[in-house]
Amino acid sequence: MTTCPFSAASRQAVREALSHPHFGVRPTDEPVPRALLGTPAQSIFASLVRMNDGVRQSELKLAIEAALAWHDDDEIRQTAVDVAQRLAGSLTTAEQLTRFNYALPICVLAELLGVAHRDRATLVDEVLAFVRCIAPGGSTEQMAAGAVAAGKLHLRMQQADGPLFVQLCQQVGDRSLAIANAIGLLFQACEGTAGLIGQMQLLANERQQSAEELILVVLQQSPPIHTTRRFALQDTRLEGQPLVKGQSVLVHLKTPEESFAFGHGAHRCPGERWARIIALAAMSVLHIKPEWLSHYRWRVSQNARVAEFYSVQENADDRGDF
Ligand code: HEM
Repeated sequence: MTTCPFSAASRQAVREALSHPHFGVRPTDEPVPRALLGTPAQSIFASLVRMNDGVRQSELKLAIEAALAWHDDDEIRQTAVDVAQRLAGSLTTAEQLTRFNYALPICVLAELLGVAHRDRATLVDEVLAFVRCIAPGGSTEQMAAGAVAAGKLHLRMQQADGPLFVQLCQQVGDRSLAIANAIGLLFQACEGTAGLIGQMQLLANERQQSAEELILVVLQQSPPIHTTRRFALQDTRLEGQPLVKGQSVLVHLKTPEESFAFGHGAHRCPGERWARIIALAAMSVLHIKPEWLSHYRWRVSQNARVAEFYSVQENADDRGDF
């Protein structure tokens, strides 16, 4: 594989890279990252809608969209508010606010998937570890920890019995494929939604705007997932430039002309409605002290923009009880 990525940064190039059949989500010679081969993460990764193209992807995508559509706005909102109230109840520090932002989307989906009621903190840790091994740029240690977490998530998901999980199984028609993609929902929802909520909190501290308006500002100006990647499946061209088979393309989701906060084309995010409702629920229940927002850094990530708040006496282990 050629290592130097081509950069797609104009509206036209982004649309082309995300919709042309000459570009895929994985290099043809490495459908699963080598570091995950032989680990519990291998089969999960290979089954994810996000990591496949063509007919397999489009069939899975329809099934996942149908399962997500099964829950109406009111049900998602009620679940999100209940979960947010439970998580926010014990929140007293900047570090716990960071943890809340990651935990909320995971716990809302977990609630409807019917997984891990008793053991939320461990579930959140496992999903965050799994995200680290799927997202580009993970270290050897992160890949190893993520693979272990994948095995634990798989065991957990085998016990799931919630309405979203039942729908996924019915729509996908294959239980192990449904389990992998249920885990996929947890990991896909986590960073993007945490990034949206964190940026809304920063903006709300500066200006008087409704939560709905803040969502629009973030999605338009600073997409929480700001880049994605594609690989040339054959020798081809992008914006007239030649690319060789295997060459990677770094796709910028914010272009001067348009923001593609939820992607574009076959892999466009199916969770936009859920993300907006969960973010509104977070803002409606939180009573944030301004000092929690005074120190933050951006998550170390190649593609997600997530504010991580911390206090002056920084304490990375301070995560509240979740
Ligand atoms: C603000 C929050 C979110 C943002 C910014 C976001 C962004 C994105 C983007 C940009 C993609 C496309 C990636 C690509 O084409 O390479 C994507 C895919 C995906 N997202 Fe989201 N997402 C968010 C929340 C969610 C939620 C809450 C869910 C689940 C309920 C979800 C489920 C998915 C799935 C399953 C895919 C893969 C779709 C496919 O490959 O066909 N996302 N998301």
